[in-house]
Amino acid sequence: MKKLFIKTYGCQMNVYDSARMADLLAPLGYAPADVPDAADMVILNTCHIREKASDKVYSELGKLKLLKDEKAQSGGKMLIAVAGCVAQAEGEEIIKRQGAVDIVVGPQSYHRLPELIARINREKGHALDTDFPVEEKFDTLPEEIGTNGPTAFLTVQEGCDKFCTFCVVPYTRGAEYSRPVAQIEREARTLAGKGVREITLLGQNVNAYSGEGPDGETWSLAKLVRRLAKIQGVDRIRYTTSHPRDMSDDLIEAHRDVEALMPYLHLPVQSGSDRILDAMNRQHTRDDYLRLVERIRAARPDIALSSDFIVGFPGETDKDFADTMALARAVGYASHFSFKYSPRPGTPAATQKQVPEDVKAARLEELQELLFAQQRAFNRSCEGRTLDVLFEKPGRQAGQAIGRSPFLQPVHADNAADLIGRIVPVKIEKVFPNSLSARLLYPSRMAEAVS
Ligand code: 5AD
Ligand code: SF4
Repeated sequence: MKKLFIKTYGCQMNVYDSARMADLLAPLGYAPADVPDAADMVILNTCHIREKASDKVYSELGKLKLLKDEKAQSGGKMLIAVAGCVAQAEGEEIIKRQGAVDIVVGPQSYHRLPELIARINREKGHALDTDFPVEEKFDTLPEEIGTNGPTAFLTVQEGCDKFCTFCVVPYTRGAEYSRPVAQIEREARTLAGKGVREITLLGQNVNAYSGEGPDGETWSLAKLVRRLAKIQGVDRIRYTTSHPRDMSDDLIEAHRDVEALMPYLHLPVQSGSDRILDAMNRQHTRDDYLRLVERIRAARPDIALSSDFIVGFPGETDKDFADTMALARAVGYASHFSFKYSPRPGTPAATQKQVPEDVKAARLEELQELLFAQQRAFNRSCEGRTLDVLFEKPGRQAGQAIGRSPFLQPVHADNAADLIGRIVPVKIEKVFPNSLSARLLYPSRMAEAVS
């Protein structure tokens, strides 16, 4: 067997893509390796969303070049491929900057990796493919899927037509595309057949999903979720990432009605200032967002909400930032991601006058102080409660297992190693900033009978 090392950066969509690249290369004799040393092929699946994420790629490539040289000295060969959004955005430039790179392949054309590898082995030089044949990609990817425990990602939608003025995604992932329902259902059944009990549906704009249904009609995400919830073994469904504009009534109703749909929603707001939301081209106001949150909570009162925030977008004043703080206080989030604005080449906001770095840093600190306090408060509110946990993997201590609550909090419990793959009610006993510790309600052999 040949050794394949894949390093994944960025979002969950990249995690899905990396797993599919491994599925694609398995028939060519490549088996996954944990380290790049002496690998026959290394793939960096890259992220272009913020400057820091992109920069990491070149320093990693420098290190890989040394490993490649080492392997060549002992008569071996290491292929280096750059995939993902940096590959899409920079293309040929990557090969110019780092000659050790053999293949550059974009996020919508990685299904052609076997051809690209064959070409490199046949001819000398480099191979580059940054086309957008997204439909062809999903038609060609192998039906055989490797799984890694009882949870899995499943990409249902790709690309984005929203063009927020800070964001590279519409350029790197291309136009919105929704996979047909039948194709998704087949993949979900395969996953369930391999013991997967929780599926997270992925899309850059997942709630804008509008795929072809088996009846020839266009199906919404809500309709897809209802369909997937019927599959035997699929006990938990999540989806990410959603845009406030596409949070339709039927999806909100699904949160009320569909038991498998977990009470957690990542709903990025980015800013709480109408002026900045407009400059970002978000296509909603702070009031739209607050009213939406009210409607979601009316349908599913215990839902845990999460968001992305950007501070220091060009033109953001102290007043705009105060509006963001006020919105976060008004909503009350269970978790969040927050970033300093990072100018991305080719996006409209990148050429505007920038907010000074020290102002961005101070705002980020203030916002994070509030949001982490909210997260701690949410976690504390779970103390003493009984929550269902899907145990996913062994913990650090012997006999310990780690899983997730319905609200996506990591939960660990002792004497639970034999419950991996099961959904078990546990009592939350201790609360930490980023995780919960629980006690089994029943000895694990009895819990087996319960789940
Ligand atoms: N600068 C900072 N954060 C960004 N994001 C996207 N583009 C940028 C940028 N240029 C953040 C947004 C998005 C998340 C995935 O990354 O908050 O929701
Ligand atoms: Fe980027 Fe906006 Fe599209 Fe999200 S909705 S992927 S932030 S352009």
